[in-house]
Amino acid sequence: MVDWVGSGVGLLLGRGSGHCRITGLIKPHFLVMKTFASFVLSAFCLAAPAFASDAPKAAKPDLAAGEAKYTAMCAACHGADGNSGSPENPKLAAQHPEYLAKQLSEFKSGKRANAIMSGMAGALSDEDMKNISAWLSNQKAKPGFAKDKDTVALGERIYRGGIADRQIAACAGCHSPTGAGIPSQYPRLSGQHAQYNAAQLTAFRDGVRKNNLQMTQIAAKLNDREIKAVADYMAGLR
Ligand code: HEC
Ligand code: HEC
Repeated sequence: MVDWVGSGVGLLLGRGSGHCRITGLIKPHFLVMKTFASFVLSAFCLAAPAFASDAPKAAKPDLAAGEAKYTAMCAACHGADGNSGSPENPKLAAQHPEYLAKQLSEFKSGKRANAIMSGMAGALSDEDMKNISAWLSNQKAKPGFAKDKDTVALGERIYRGGIADRQIAACAGCHSPTGAGIPSQYPRLSGQHAQYNAAQLTAFRDGVRKNNLQMTQIAAKLNDREIKAVADYMAGLR
């Protein structure tokens, strides 16, 4: 509940830049938070005009430049259209652009450690990251499939309901019931390679991937069998 409320407010603020419209992101059960959220929002809206006139408007991403750079530097591993065919290289098509840009800048800074990607991201400017991420988010994601009949029910149970007696939150709560994620913080997981999903959950659990505390805490409570089951289930989610 606390995470949801936090993310609701975060989303409102994130979307508020430049305009003050509230979109359909407040779920009915957040109405208890309405007073607080509208307080935060109105404070932000009051501040917005000064903001808009002082700061130069962020440039629109250049999709053609993003495509050109992606094709030259990234397509060999992540697929021509962002639908990587190899299970250790993640699919990137249709992922939220803010999430992609966050990962690229964290690979570059070393906050997310990976020998291959640190080198790749090190060669990109902030502008390149923004352009590539915007282009990727416009590509169509190809659906995937779960492969292990024996564990798919366990995977589904964890994804949809978590594991209550061990305080493991439902994945669907942050990554959405279809696995499409929730822009801009919560990444899309549906159709992602099971091998990549499992590798990331294990990396969070073992403290190798340290760029998100929520996921470190969740993965810390999952055993290998549960990681394998939920990773395979998400590959087939759509
Ligand atoms: C030699 C193969 C290779 C190349 C080339 C490559 N990548 Fe990657 N990429 C990977 C691997 C492997 C991972 C998984 C890293 C990990 O385990 O943390 C990854 C992860 C990523 C992620 C994180 C995805 C997620 O869901 O969190 C992004 C974003 C990404 N790559 C973008 C790019 C971009 C943009 C380029 C080109 C500038 C690129 N990659 C080039 C292999 C590659
Ligand atoms: C409280 C919210 C929350 C919950 C609940 C949650 N996640 Fe996440 N998850 C996140 C966030 C935020 C990220 C992105 C981290 C980052 O920015 O690097 C993430 C990232 C991931 C990634 C890495 C995606 C990629 O492309 O590299 C996987 C895999 C994942 N989550 C699986 C799960 C599973 C499985 C569960 C349920 C057992 C779960 N998550 C529950 C918030 C959550």
